[in-house]
Amino acid sequence: MDRVHRTLLYIGDKPDEKLVKSLSDAAWKVVPAINANASSDLSDAPMPGLLDLTAGVSKPHLERVEQLSRSALVAWVALVSRESRDLREVRDAIAAHCFDFVTVPTQHERILTVLSQAVGMEALRFEGDTALADGAMASSMIGSSEVMRALHRAIGKVASTDATVFISGESGTGKELTAQMIHARSARRDMPFIAVNCGAIPHELLHSELFGYERGAFTGATQRKIGRVEEANGGTLFLDEIGDLPAESQAALLRFIQERKIERLGGIESVDVDVRVITATHVDMQTAVDEGRFRADLFFRLCVLEIREPPLRMRGKDITELASYALERFKDERARRIHGFAPDAIAALHNYGWPGNVRELINRVRRAIILSEGKYITAQDLELTEHAANAPDSLREARAAADRRAIELALFVHKGRVVDAARGLGISRVHLHRLMQDLGMPTRAAGDDMQEAGDPAPAL
Ligand SMILES: Nc1ncnc2c1ncn2[C@@H]1O[C@H](COP(=O)(O)OP(=O)(O)OP(=O)(O)O)[C@@H](O)[C@H]1O
Ligand SMILES: [Mg+2]
Repeated sequence: MDRVHRTLLYIGDKPDEKLVKSLSDAAWKVVPAINANASSDLSDAPMPGLLDLTAGVSKPHLERVEQLSRSALVAWVALVSRESRDLREVRDAIAAHCFDFVTVPTQHERILTVLSQAVGMEALRFEGDTALADGAMASSMIGSSEVMRALHRAIGKVASTDATVFISGESGTGKELTAQMIHARSARRDMPFIAVNCGAIPHELLHSELFGYERGAFTGATQRKIGRVEEANGGTLFLDEIGDLPAESQAALLRFIQERKIERLGGIESVDVDVRVITATHVDMQTAVDEGRFRADLFFRLCVLEIREPPLRMRGKDITELASYALERFKDERARRIHGFAPDAIAALHNYGWPGNVRELINRVRRAIILSEGKYITAQDLELTEHAANAPDSLREARAAADRRAIELALFVHKGRVVDAARGLGISRVHLHRLMQDLGMPTRAAGDDMQEAGDPAPAL
């Protein structure tokens, strides 16, 4: 038989001969990996491993699993017995190292199925890692605060639909990252993700950049050019700074969203394009609509689903999580090892208001890695010395800071609706209004619940 056998690592006392035979029939070459030097059998590609825990956990076995997992992409499947699967240490070992477990005795078919699933999952993860290494797709989204968990849920929900999504949020909060995550989790993930920053392209060029042109459409158009919308065919088009879209392109975009067709500049035919549209802005679109700079009908279409990106100052412990993430990611840019953040740096990270949000945090940490002379990054390295004081100057100031934070969060959670925010905080609307005035917070929305009106997007 000249069938190519793929390697299956096995860790356990003695493999069951009948099982080895079944695996071999399914083209798996079982390599007992406990003592043998399995490195010649290790490949760069994801591979499965069987970890026999039917007689409980053996320390040398577990150490070997850890060692192998460091040098290869192994998806471990545990074999357990009815007795062993109730043991605490067996459960812990499965939770720590294995993709899944199978209780034996069972049909060998079942083991084969789980093994193939394990390899499939490992391969998916591997592909994700490769994309990351290539810088092609942003990594995961860091943050486990309540607002970020809500954001993750919202991303999951919108990813499963094909509706247009409007992402609002301050500069640097992660709007583009969110759009990438929606795409990566959607059925369109294998097709292109095309991002266009409408604010960065001169108005006179933007239309042809988006919709393309035919040869001879204007002087200098020596050949046909496919626009970004068409380039995204089958995938997702992300239009950043949508508020900067000129009137002519607004009309074309509206038509495209309604009819799924575009016309290249100078073209006579319309072209069918299947694209999911995600847009974002850091300016207040409602004002742009009210002032007639942005078409209300288009805005309504773009806002079928809305996601609001929380500002970093509302994310609590995410701030240190993100700082550690940035440190891990960029610390190799300097030869000397940095172990973490000094206490004054942690205090400063929390006290500072982060107007530039996540982008600013990442940049500050990155710069600090280079500036830092010790093992720990200090507030001075972050250029945040004036925010490093742990204790506020007075109790009054501490209260004011806490009040401001609570009000901001309540307003964010309730989408700027003052009545609801006040109810959430357990105070009256009038009281909230007065507090905001005392704290010097903008109260434009406090008098009238304007966000409520004309907001076509469902809450996510
Ligand atoms: N939760 C997060 N975890 C990890 N990195 C993040 C997170 N949020 C944002 N980033 C990173 O911060 C930077 C800014 O994010 P992004 O470009 O998505 O923000 P934005 O809201 O589109 O900004 P702008 O308003 O300036 O266009 C990027 O490098 C992004 O990868
Ligand atoms: Mg952006």
